[in-house]
Amino acid sequence: MIVAIDGPAGSGKTTIAKLLSKKLNISYLDTGATYRALTLKALDEGIDLKDALHLTRLAAGLNLKFKGQKTYLDDKDVSEKIRTPLIDKNISIIVAYPEVREVMVALQRRIAKGGDFVVEGRDITTVVFPNAEFKFYLDADSTIRAERRFNELKAKGIKIGFKEMEKDLNKRDDADKKREVGALTLSKDATYIDTSKMAIEEVINEMLKYIRKGKK
Ligand code: DC
Repeated sequence: MIVAIDGPAGSGKTTIAKLLSKKLNISYLDTGATYRALTLKALDEGIDLKDALHLTRLAAGLNLKFKGQKTYLDDKDVSEKIRTPLIDKNISIIVAYPEVREVMVALQRRIAKGGDFVVEGRDITTVVFPNAEFKFYLDADSTIRAERRFNELKAKGIKIGFKEMEKDLNKRDDADKKREVGALTLSKDATYIDTSKMAIEEVINEMLKYIRKGKK
């Protein structure tokens, strides 16, 4: 069974997908982490981010593993390192290359193959798992999304101005919605949930209601 969740940054996807997978007692895949790890590797290796061919090769050879809720790149725990503003600033250019996405989508499908997963990202309901049993699109007001992301970074001790972070977040969302391949769109058969004024538990209960009914 695949529960596919798409939505913009700060919509609550990650927190909710993790908790939902626990409630359902199934695995969890954060596809954003796959693109983040690739971005980290490209920056570490000093690869020219305009070189799509080089990035595609890098993606194809990526040594990436997920254990529990941790992300390992080349057998090192990079769970924290992939969530810094430096990655946020550089990721949009990499995720826009169709040939890079093709490799990453294949990787994501391989990871989830034959298993029961909650999978979250931007193109999960549309491209990665168009036949998912359950599909959700989580959204929230843009100021609320920026506040959530800001608090997340603050809790980790990462210092960044609110305005700068909000600008970066809006820029990334815009790029995610406008790119030619794998753009963030609301799939016709996905359930849309605006989480702006909802507590996490409320969102999860709403999703469980649909899942228990066996309805997309
Ligand atoms: O969900 P996130 O913030 O970790 O995602 C990081 C970036 O990766 C974001 O700009 C969107 C992109 N992404 C994507 O293009 N496709 C996915 N399936 C997941 C994330």
